[in-house]
Amino acid sequence: MVKAVVLGAAGGIGQPLALLLKANPLVTELGLYDIVNTPGVAADLSHISTPAKVEGFLPPDDGLKKTLTGADIVVIPAGVPRKPGMTRDDLFKINAGIVKDLATGIAKTAPKAFVLVISNPVNSTVPIVAEVFKKHGVYDPKRIFGVTTLDVVRSSTFVAEILGNFSLSKEIVVPVVGGHSGVTIVPLLSQSSHPLPAGITTPDYEALVKRIQFGGDEVVKAKDGAGSATLSMAYAGAEFAAKILRALKGEKGIVAPSFVSLQADPSGAAALTKELGKELEFFSSNIEFGAEGIVKINPLGTLTDAEKALVKAAIPELATNIQTGINYVAEAY
Ligand code: NAD
Ligand code: LMR
Repeated sequence: MVKAVVLGAAGGIGQPLALLLKANPLVTELGLYDIVNTPGVAADLSHISTPAKVEGFLPPDDGLKKTLTGADIVVIPAGVPRKPGMTRDDLFKINAGIVKDLATGIAKTAPKAFVLVISNPVNSTVPIVAEVFKKHGVYDPKRIFGVTTLDVVRSSTFVAEILGNFSLSKEIVVPVVGGHSGVTIVPLLSQSSHPLPAGITTPDYEALVKRIQFGGDEVVKAKDGAGSATLSMAYAGAEFAAKILRALKGEKGIVAPSFVSLQADPSGAAALTKELGKELEFFSSNIEFGAEGIVKINPLGTLTDAEKALVKAAIPELATNIQTGINYVAEAY
């Protein structure tokens, strides 16, 4: 029996993500929470002929607590999205408070659940969840994940496009490390399961890196004020959640990038820190999952000079974003 919960389940990401989780046969119970519309979303999904029993709750009558009771995995896409001209950091003011309150609810009701954070800015909201859990004495760094899968999904798609073979998209795996915003998004294209064309020019390589780093902006611009990526994010979130669910069920050797606390695996963290040349509390690298959460944080491995430069460029912004999240919780208590 596995209970999955979506917090922010009535939103642009929340609804399709809830649909994809309802379609996952490993989920037997699906709890949906939002400040609006969850009873309707739950009623709608509950007619789908898959195993999960669906319930939707709103804030009154302890709705958050009811949603979270018995949760094994909690996905958080609650919060405001960007509009053109905004950075993800511009969302911090509103989303920090939303994530802090939801993390408090999880810490109180489902402290052992795996927490998957989608709400932006991920580089700061993941540290917020970690700090809230510390304040409640329930922190387990092995169970908190920043969802960076959309960057991986975009990389697969854009590399397939360059290779001129869209049918390869699903097979192409590119590790994307660092964090989830602009220059903190570092695609390790030299480690792509399907190499780039041997003759790719430097400008074409740089344009590809830029497109992966700023893919979110492409969608924000196209939506023209109506929000940011929702459908591709729901797909990516469901892919990541599916991996966690398989690990929960005991499958071994599942690996994917995620933005996590380096405390989750001190020996892996030591090797990674040596590669980075700087101590960071959180970083996205390839992570191996198990039934208890993070089993191993993998090192970056061999990088090209261009990739080393990208990692170096990511570090200052990442360090600032992480500290912003930590300071927010310190000031709130
Ligand atoms: P949206 O506005 O469509 O949906 C957000 C939902 O959150 C709404 O239904 C809203 O009612 C709900 N909500 C607000 N406050 C809440 C609270 N206190 N408790 C529960 N629910 C609450 O936005 P969206 O497009 O779904 O995006 C959600 C977030 O995901 C944004 O912060 C966005 O930047 C982020 N995002 C992250 C990634 C990523 O790769 N990690 C990708 C896309 C979007
Ligand atoms: C994305 O990468 O699409 C998301 O982080 C949403 C955004 O604000 O770009």
